[in-house]
Amino acid sequence: MGKILAINGSYRENGITDQAVEEIAQAVEAAGAEVEVVLLRKQVIEFCLNCRECTQRAGEAPGACVLRDGMEELINRIERADGYILAAPTNFGSATALFKRFMERLIVYAYWPWEKNSPAYRKAKAARKRSILVSSCAAPGILGRLMYGTHKQLKMTSAVIGADVVGTLFIGLIAKDPHRALPDRHRRKIRRLVKKLL
Ligand SMILES: Cc1cc2nc3c(=O)[nH]c(=O)nc-3n(C[C@H](O)[C@H](O)[C@H](O)COP(=O)(O)O)c2cc1C
Repeated sequence: MGKILAINGSYRENGITDQAVEEIAQAVEAAGAEVEVVLLRKQVIEFCLNCRECTQRAGEAPGACVLRDGMEELINRIERADGYILAAPTNFGSATALFKRFMERLIVYAYWPWEKNSPAYRKAKAARKRSILVSSCAAPGILGRLMYGTHKQLKMTSAVIGADVVGTLFIGLIAKDPHRALPDRHRRKIRRLVKKLL
């Protein structure tokens, strides 16, 4: 069975996103697969410079970034993984800035020479992997998923690294007290999602 990489863009220790990712990770392990959780808040990842050095050379392998920081090892982990859990809370209608900073650095997955108007994603024709998307917000989950950019951003992240989305967990109505526990119905949904991921 494969190796699953979780990338979590929440700022908060043991907040709702951490709890959801942890629950998914446990379900993945219980099913006999390996899981690795990366907390973006603990990584040293600089902002993309938009220099596009990494996009100039063709090929399926990610381009080389001019910045030498935590992203180098994270790209290696992304390459080695067979599936992904991509998670970010919704702040001001979008994935957190922490997640967006990571996301912009994924431009290494684009072949985009200067003469082209738009990029071609290196993994577009690669063997597809699978992903689960996780987000949280104060608004009802269904509204959050439709109204905010978060779901689109997580989906785009998945596409760029070469994975098809097999399920989404959008946890709403969770910001009315500081230490909300993950509701049981989401725990049940997680068990269903993990079966699709593995
Ligand atoms: C700066 C900030 C902006 C937020 N913006 C929104 C928003 O636009 N819509 C929404 O429904 N919730 C919003 N929220 C609530 C967060 O989505 C919620 O606190 C978060 O999902 C909890 O995730 P966590 O427990 O992993 O930190 C915001 C919270 C903060 C602190």
